[in-house]
Formats: sequence, C-alpha cells, structure tokens
Amino acid sequence: MGVQWNMAIIPILFLFLFTSTAKAQSGVFDLVAKYGAKADGKTDLSQPLLNAWKEACASTTPSKIVIPKGTYFLSKATLEGPCKGPIELQVQGTVMAPADPSVFKQPDWVAFNRIDQFSMSGGGVFDGQGATAWGKNDCAKHKYCTALPVNLRFNFVNNAMIQDITTKDSKQFHVNVLGCKNITFLHFTVSAPENSINTDGIHIGRSDGVNITNAIIKTGDDCVSLGDGSKNVVVHGVTCGPGHGISIGSLGKFQGEEPVAGVHVSNCTISNTMNGVRIKSWPASYPGSATDMHFQDITMNNVGNPIIVDQEYCPWNQCNLKLPSRIKLSNISFKNIRGTSSTQQAVKLICSSSLPCEGVELANIDLVYNGPEGPATCHCQNVSPKLTGKQNPSTCSTPSQ
Ligand SMILES: *[C@@H]1O[C@H](CO)[C@@H](O)[C@H](O)[C@H]1NC(C)=O
Ligand SMILES: *[C@@H]1O[C@H](CO)[C@@H](O)[C@H](O)[C@H]1NC(C)=O
Ligand SMILES: *[C@@H]1O[C@H](CO)[C@@H](O)[C@H](O)[C@H]1NC(C)=O
Ligand SMILES: *[C@@H]1O[C@H](CO)[C@@H](O)[C@H](O)[C@H]1NC(C)=O
Repeated sequence: MGVQWNMAIIPILFLFLFTSTAKAQSGVFDLVAKYGAKADGKTDLSQPLLNAWKEACASTTPSKIVIPKGTYFLSKATLEGPCKGPIELQVQGTVMAPADPSVFKQPDWVAFNRIDQFSMSGGGVFDGQGATAWGKNDCAKHKYCTALPVNLRFNFVNNAMIQDITTKDSKQFHVNVLGCKNITFLHFTVSAPENSINTDGIHIGRSDGVNITNAIIKTGDDCVSLGDGSKNVVVHGVTCGPGHGISIGSLGKFQGEEPVAGVHVSNCTISNTMNGVRIKSWPASYPGSATDMHFQDITMNNVGNPIIVDQEYCPWNQCNLKLPSRIKLSNISFKNIRGTSSTQQAVKLICSSSLPCEGVELANIDLVYNGPEGPATCHCQNVSPKLTGKQNPSTCSTPSQ
C-alpha cells in the first residue's frame, strides 16, 4: 500500500516542481543559454541581443534579459520600444565596442529608444574603447566636431532606473539623456582618463525628472552637463574628477532652446577638475532662460573656478563677444561650498550686461587659494548677490550694474 502511494505521488511532485520552475523563468532571457551569445570577446552580441529584446519587448508580463559574466564584443545595438510590459536588462559582463571609430555611421553605440518602465542593473561595464578616437574630435580644432559614437543613449525613456552600471572610455559623451521623464542613475560609474576629449559623463537635455545619486565620474570633460530643456534635475552624492566639473549649458547657441528650470546639486565632492559648479551661456546668443538652480554642500579639492557663472562663454573665439548673452539667469544659490581652489579667482559671476542675473545668493562660502599671488578673489559683473554667513573670498571685487 505504502509503495503504491509513493509511486503515484512522485511523478506528480516532479511535474509540479517542473512547471513552477518553468513559470518563474518564463520572463528571463539569458543571452548565452538561449540566444547563442558567446563570452569570447569577439563573437558579435548584436543579433542575440536584438533577438532577445524583440521577444522580451513583446511580453505583456515583466521580462528580464541577462548578459552573464564574461567579455562580449558588441558592434552596435539600438533597442526600440515601446514594449508591452516592464523590461529589465541585467548586464553582469563587460561589453566592448569596436575600437575603430570609422565603423560607426551614426553617433550611437548602444541606444534605448521610446521605452516605458525600463531598468538596467547588474554591475556590468560598457567599454567604448575610445582611446583610438580621442584625437579625432577636438572641437578646438574643428568647428564641427566629428560625430563619434556615444556609449549609452536614452532617447524618450520614461520611468527608468539605471543602477550599478559602469561606462568606460567612450569615444564621445558617455551617456546622453534626451526627452526622458523620471529616470534615475544610482551608483553609476563613469571612467575615462583626464586627456579623453569631449567625453562628458552624463549629458541631459529636454528631460524632466532626472536623478543622479551616488555616482562616481572620472572623465576628460564635464562630469554632468545639462543642456536646454533640463527640468527638475537632482544631482546628489556625486564624486567628480578628473574632469571639467558639473555644468549647466552652454546655453543660447541655437534658436528655439527650451528653458532650464529646477536643478539641485548637493552633497558632491569635486576634485582636480578644470571647473567646479558652472553655468555658462554664449554671447550674441538666441534668447532663453535658466532659473531655480541650487548648489549646496559641495567640497572642492584643488578645483579651478570652483564657482563660476559665465555668460561670456566663448571657447575657441567662435563668437562675437561685443554682443551680450540673451539668456536670463535667475534664482541661483550657492550654499556651503568649501575647499581649495587651484585658481586665484575662486568665485566668478559674469552675468549678461543686457539681462543681469537676478536672485543670486552666496551662503557659507569658504574657498582657499594657496598660490603665490595672494588669497582667493571673487569677481562679479552685472549681478549683486545676496551674501549670508561666511564669505571667503570676501565680497565681489568689481560689482557693477
Ligand atoms: C518613476 O520611475 C520609477 C521606476 O524607476 C517608478 O517606480 C516610479 O513610480 C516613477 N515615478 C513616477 C512619479 O511616475
Ligand atoms: C533619487 O533617487 C534616489 C535613489 O532611488 C532616491 O533615494 C531619492 O529619493 C531620489 N531623489 C529624488 C529627489 O527623487
Ligand atoms: C554624501 O555623499 C557621501 C559620498 O560622497 C555619502 O557617504 C554620504 O552618505 C552622503 N550624505 C548624504 C546626506 O546623502
Ligand atoms: C527659487 O528656488 C526655490 C528653491 O527651489 C523655489 O522654492 C522658489 O519657488 C524659486 N523662486 C522663484 C521666484 O522662482
């Protein structure tokens, strides 16, 4: 009797276990196990990734694509939405781009387009192998920089979480965020050498609700840069340097730029960079505005121009300095900014002569310069900032307006 009972129950149990496992796994798309990807550093991951994306994107239940540990070669990938359900890309391995920049016909390597409810995580690395390209996009030498590929593009991606991902040695910007709503970068890492040209860490444009929290950004250009139409951007706990600092602008170069509104940069450490926190606009510009920009609790270590508003931004003399910027800057605060400056002019606020800056506040500033010329200085033009708490350097040397 006992034996018969066992014989009958075991197959049922097995069947039950098997079906429940299969069900739990149904939303997981492992590129190596199911799609023929090879972690050999040379077989192209492109087709396996696109095939898995197509299936995952059609799934009405949440799906997850896994790139397991190992090193993969990826020629290029454009991952298109809209998808039928939430979609996750788990990158555990290292994905390498072609080193030769001439194989790229468009300035993209990996792009995510028109996706809602997207997440990416896994501790993996996107390696743009950019060293071969950095000599080729020097904007100081060419009026139009060549269109080299950006490592990661997020175009019209909404409600997204990008977590524990590294982008390394991009040929151009590391990350470009365009037209996105509610996208968070958490524990994100950017890694490129100081001499890599035009490799901004995270560039944001025309997006609402971008949150960069606890990132480490080492690169050859801006750590974070915000272009026109950046709204409600939070940058918190970012460690920046080497690089050019955290920048809003440059604004005003093109017609029809959208306003910048609501930028909160806090609890950041900026080290050995060309600039600290910066707002810049071109002279002789198109009209525009940027408002509600706040920088707070920032430590500067050996930083050039730790606090700088520059409405006469004119690199490589490609503009007419005689005509003022038509970008209106207002409601700007710098609070609890301390540390060391590598340039004597530690605070520089150059506003437009036709549209002076309004509602600027400096509170608890303590920036030390240790050079032979003397202590740190402050320079102001077309702005009368409200000063509260400690002011080192002390009041603006040449107030006008
Ligand atoms: C923002 O996106 C996250 C997913 O990353 C989601 O959980 C959250 O609900 C979204 N917030 C809003 C206000 O839609
Ligand atoms: C930014 O994202 C972090 C991590 O998800 C979260 O803890 C924080 O509340 C977010 N900040 C804002 C202002 O949404
Ligand atoms: C500020 O950032 C540092 C890392 O740079 C982190 O350890 C600390 O917890 C953060 N503080 C707050 C209040 O977020
Ligand atoms: C200035 O910025 C603060 C902080 O974000 C905001 O609460 C306030 O409404 C802004 N004021 C104006 C006049 O825009």
